[in-house]
Amino acid sequence: MQFFLDTADISQIEKGLEWGMVDGVTTNPSLIAKQGKPYLPTVKAIAELVPGPVSGEVLATDYDGMMEQAARLSDLADNVVIKLPLLPDGLRAARSLADQGIKTNVTLCFSANQALLAAKAGATYISPFVGRLDDLGQDGMSLIEEIVEIYDNFGFDTEVLVASVRSPLHVTMAARLGAGVATIPFKVLEQLYRHPMTDKGLAQFLADWEATGKSFDD
Ligand code: E4P
Repeated sequence: MQFFLDTADISQIEKGLEWGMVDGVTTNPSLIAKQGKPYLPTVKAIAELVPGPVSGEVLATDYDGMMEQAARLSDLADNVVIKLPLLPDGLRAARSLADQGIKTNVTLCFSANQALLAAKAGATYISPFVGRLDDLGQDGMSLIEEIVEIYDNFGFDTEVLVASVRSPLHVTMAARLGAGVATIPFKVLEQLYRHPMTDKGLAQFLADWEATGKSFDD
């Protein structure tokens, strides 16, 4: 299973890479806006830092505009994946880009049928937003289960990229369901490491040795 970081914050990406847990990065216009920096240079800086796939989203909502922006995003670096909204024109662009060998991430997926359409359009990744479904009182992880089953039924190559992850439990469930990728906010990545029994156990180990009055070399 791959972990992508869901952020446009360079310091978070550097830390995640240092920990050896970041296989790629996803950005979106809201995340880039939060950084207060220009759009394309931000995607480029991230793509230069990260050895794996980096999703950069088009801002256009019509086919020609998406294709023009996809070309410019693609020119930034070889590892840029074009993020497209799940609209008829977005899926048409996904098909055209797939035909050119360009990787795509179809975003804002909220139903199994939308995921089926994205796979038929040749998307490299589909991004179902589990947290935003939970916010509506629906079960976001059930959608992942449905998509994994449908993709398995037909052997689609499109990878399920679990998005809008809000908690460690989302990551556990994504892994149990066999989703290929989860894109994780930095705060949740940090939470994955933590368990109070780990802290308690370590404190006890160190205290027991310190009580001997000896050092590491004794
Ligand atoms: C996915 O690619 C999106 O960037 C992201 O996961 C959305 O998450 P949010 O619902 O927490 O904004």
